[in-house]
Order: sequence, then structure tokens, then C-alpha cells
Amino acid sequence: MANAIYEKVNNCVEAIRKVTDFKPRVAITLGSGLGNYAEQIDIKCEISYSDIPGFPISTVPGHAGKFIFGYVGDVPVVCMKGRVHYYEGYDINDVVLPARVMRLLGAEILFLTNAAGGINYTFDCGDLMLIADHISVFVPNPLIGPNIEEFGTRFPDMSCVYDKQLRDIIQQTALENAIPLKQGIYAQLTGPSFETPAEIRMLRILGADAVGMSTVVEALVAHYMGMRVCGISCISNLAAGMREKPLSHEDVQEAADKTGPLFEKLVTECVKKF
Ligand code: HPA
Repeated sequence: MANAIYEKVNNCVEAIRKVTDFKPRVAITLGSGLGNYAEQIDIKCEISYSDIPGFPISTVPGHAGKFIFGYVGDVPVVCMKGRVHYYEGYDINDVVLPARVMRLLGAEILFLTNAAGGINYTFDCGDLMLIADHISVFVPNPLIGPNIEEFGTRFPDMSCVYDKQLRDIIQQTALENAIPLKQGIYAQLTGPSFETPAEIRMLRILGADAVGMSTVVEALVAHYMGMRVCGISCISNLAAGMREKPLSHEDVQEAADKTGPLFEKLVTECVKKF
């Protein structure tokens, strides 16, 4: 029986293939702080999301959307400049559609980046955090529904979503470039409201080090589809209740942008080694 999700993903791939036959090895999802990352890429082709029928388009300021195909060093990459979030009202299957599409375009590795609120008391605004594991239970699981056998197995193992070898490369690369790198557990909540201080205390008890509104569902689907996954959060703020000042999207964006150059350097040097 035809599966609507399977067909939608394949239609997007077909639309992209009409424009380019570029085969990426690494897919990179650019979060806040990596807005200028295209400067690091030897660009071969760009495709606006709006030119791909059915592709979800972000409504958030600073998240304008396109795929960038090109090379980081010798490594063929596809970069997502802009992503959609569940809180925008999209079905969870649309939120993860880009990850599925990039997999079918040939990407073997998914490098996820985001801005996140720091929960761990040892974290500071501007820190970079290697994602060691995640907490997905506060967002809908994108694998609910008939399983698409072409994509993965019904009950996928999640005991190591974030590839150990990639994590080792990232830590080693950070060390070599004298870029301080924390490590921790990322929890995704739906947003769009920031958390309350009570919710942050709850997340801390549950073992989360950082909180955000993206990444986990993408990582989950990519791992299910056989990709090797890694991720880095830019700690753009300390989470609710940890500072006097109320949280605002503008402050988050500004703090993430400040970390941009260091974040870009780390991502570039890592991708060259993947
Ligand atoms: N909470 C949720 N998402 C976020 C935060 C936060 O504090 N900062 C950046 N994204």
C-alpha cells in the first residue's frame, strides 16, 4: 500500500534531483549561531525550500530556508540553512522530512546544531556542548504510524543515537583547536514558550544538561534510517530561573551569533575529518 509520508519524501528527492545530482556524504543542519556558515562551503548548488513541492518552510525570523550543496574541504555536504520546528504547527512528520530527504540524497552522516538553554550549573552562556544523548519523551515520536520498512525497522534501538566515533573526533578536534567543549544530555520540548523554572528543575532531575526546541526528533529519525548522527549545542542562555532576566528570542539569537565564529571553526574542522 502506498504510504503518504514515503511518497512525500520521495517527491521532494525527485524535485531536488531535477536540479542537481550532487551526492552529499555529510548533512549539516545549521542552528542559531551558524547563520553565516555558507561562507565555509565551496558552494556548487543552492535550492530554496520553497522550490521543493511540499517541503516545510520556517516562519521564524532568522530561519530562512534553503539547501546548500558543496564541499567543506574535500567532503561533499548538504547544508540546511533554516529548519522548521514543531511549534510552528507542522506535523511531526514534516519536521523530520528534511532529515529523511537528506538521507535519500545519499548523506551517511547527520551533523545537527542548535541553540539551547543551559541547565547544568557548570555551563555558561556561549559554551558549546557536544550532545552525548537525548531525552525525547516530551515531543511526539515521529516514528508513530505504519512503519516504512524502506526507511528502518519497527522497533529501532536507541542505545547509542550519537555516534561514538564521531563524538571522539569532535572532542579531539576541539582539543587540537583549543576550543572549549562541554558534553551533556539535550532534552527537546515543544516550545514555543520557554520553560518555567519548575520545568527546568524537573529536567535537571531527569538528567538533562541543556534544553531546546529541535534536534531530538531529527536525530531519532536519522538514526532509525541508518545515519551516523552527531550534534553540538550552543548554550545561548542559562535556562529559566537561573538568571534574573526574562528570556527572549532576540537575546538567544544574539548570544548564539556571538559564538558563531568559534562554532563555525569547530564544525568545519570536524567535517573535514568525517
Ligand atoms: N529553552 C528552550 N529552547 C531554547 C532555549 C531555552 O532556554 N534557549 C535556546 N533555545
